Amino acid sequence: MLVDTHAHIDDVKYDEDRDEMVARAKEYGVTRIITMGDTMTSSSNAIKLAEKYDGVYAGAGVHPQEALSLMPGDYDTLAQWMTHPKVKVLGEIGLDYYYENASREKQQEIFIRQLDVARQMHMPVSIHDRDAHGDTMAILKKEGRGLTGSIHCFSGSYEMAKELLKMGWFLGVDGPLTFKNAAKLPEIIAKIPLERLLLETDSPYLAPVPKRGRRNEPAYVKYIAEKVAEVRGISFEEVASQTTQNAINVFNLD
Ligand code: NI
Repeated sequence: MLVDTHAHIDDVKYDEDRDEMVARAKEYGVTRIITMGDTMTSSSNAIKLAEKYDGVYAGAGVHPQEALSLMPGDYDTLAQWMTHPKVKVLGEIGLDYYYENASREKQQEIFIRQLDVARQMHMPVSIHDRDAHGDTMAILKKEGRGLTGSIHCFSGSYEMAKELLKMGWFLGVDGPLTFKNAAKLPEIIAKIPLERLLLETDSPYLAPVPKRGRRNEPAYVKYIAEKVAEVRGISFEEVASQTTQNAINVFNLD
């Protein structure tokens, strides 16, 4: 059994075959999927998909690349959504200094306010940090007290990983672990306690080897689990069972 703790199955790339894609995940042993929103609209769509499919749960939140689309009243809507039985996480939220579609100040403002909503509603969060390690850490230290969740697609150093673990966060592992240019990531993932790792695909993006370059989908979380097992020198079964338990605990899944 595996869990894909971060996917975007509302994406238009699945409009032709969404039912088959979700069924295929089950065939691959992926019994649970958390589909993340990145705008208010996609969050609402994620919730509809979670209502439609068994084993699919939703995250609701506004991604830093979409920061300008977030309206003042949306924070109340987000808080309301957090009470939905199939909404299990506030996300995805964070900072993206690679694209910088909105100013850094604006991104930080909506990141912090969404962390506040998560704290009020006692929900875990899924955090996007692209080229923004310093500010992400500073904000989590100051504004993330009492919160937990995943640092989605972790791309920082071992020192950053250790600090996050101390603060109670979990690290999300995605397709880049399987890439030839993964640099230090395999070494880091080998050293982190298995109890603190979460598997994710970020579908439809970041397809792992051997599907690299194609459309990603939750079924392929299996390839990420295989790679985690390989770099740690343990069995696939151990990775699957521990990371599934982690996901159930962090996101309070059924
Ligand atoms: Ni994502």
